Amino acid sequence: MKSLAEKIAPDAIKKLIPYQSARRIGGEGHLWLNANELEASCVYEGQQGAYHRYPDFLPDKLASAYLEYCQTHAPAMGCKAVAVRGADEAIDLLVRTFCQPGVDKVMVCPPTYAMYEFCADSIAVEALKVPLLSDFQLDMEEIISQLDVVNILFLCSPNNPTGNIISQTDIITLLDLAKDKALVVVDEAYIEFAPQTTVVGLIEQYPNLVVIRTLSKAFGLASVRCGFLLADDSVMDMVTRLIAPYPIADPTAEIALAALTEKGICQMNTQTDDLITIREWFASELNQLEIVEQVFTSSTNFLLVKFNTPICMYRYLCSKGIVTRNQVHEPALSNCVRITIGSQESMRETLLALKQMEAERI
Ligand SMILES: Cc1ncc(COP(=O)(O)O)c(C=O)c1O
Repeated sequence: MKSLAEKIAPDAIKKLIPYQSARRIGGEGHLWLNANELEASCVYEGQQGAYHRYPDFLPDKLASAYLEYCQTHAPAMGCKAVAVRGADEAIDLLVRTFCQPGVDKVMVCPPTYAMYEFCADSIAVEALKVPLLSDFQLDMEEIISQLDVVNILFLCSPNNPTGNIISQTDIITLLDLAKDKALVVVDEAYIEFAPQTTVVGLIEQYPNLVVIRTLSKAFGLASVRCGFLLADDSVMDMVTRLIAPYPIADPTAEIALAALTEKGICQMNTQTDDLITIREWFASELNQLEIVEQVFTSSTNFLLVKFNTPICMYRYLCSKGIVTRNQVHEPALSNCVRITIGSQESMRETLLALKQMEAERI
């Protein structure tokens, strides 16, 4: 029987023979003269390793290390992992693998991460929008009524920029309803801030579920550009036809592997706990300010804050040298600013600026 991935992938993708890079072809021998690399390493100033050879085309060690890390919160038996250049590349790959430009559609639930719509727009795939409800949960009725016409439903949990977790019961309902229709992609970029809510454990039961992860957030490796796609074999078979010949640079793989050791994960967990403590302290301080209308509950490393001031708080904070993220473009988030949680010192400075503004206003 045809898998859902095979059913929805455009014919051009199904016919595609993956690019046969030198590493993919492999071989055995003592002289490697097959990839037009230099045979000896050039060592530039400050360089530690040797980088004259192309990296693995799909670094297995990294994928295995990430799967092992996933097991700490959920059984990830039936799923495969592939490393990509950040979660952003995973989103782009999924749209290009499973949607035919000008024909297929995806669904997004704003306010959410803008890249889902951007990647769809970039190849003329229509993005149907079903806005979140006022409590930032899914509008199930509306989603279900349009599920038949999309190839991918993008969900984000915990969601950016609202910070909340999407109901797992709703996700399961959608996975059941979309079983023969659409892939349900759950972007878990912020999952380390609420690890018990992961849906990775459901992949074995739902081959139409794809989970996206990253080392950019809790692991603190945004500049390394490393993310992961977790899915059933049938999805991976299609995605890896399109993946770049050498998606992961060796220095990236080395840093990522160090982060995924027991010691690295322990360090990340401690950092995450500390950040959550700062976030909760900052939220309680913000709640005492008159200029703050609401601090939304967050399961991430940021807070969405609604102000009740006539002036734009994003611009006010910018004038104090504090750069946050304005949310004016989101109809549901008027007067809202998204503030990333930094060190206690940075949050103290931000608070001080807000208190000054409040004092000036009175
Ligand atoms: C929800 C979400 N997904 C994906 C990304 C991109 O992550 P990466 O740095 O791994 O590309 C971000 C970055 O802000 C994000 O908020």
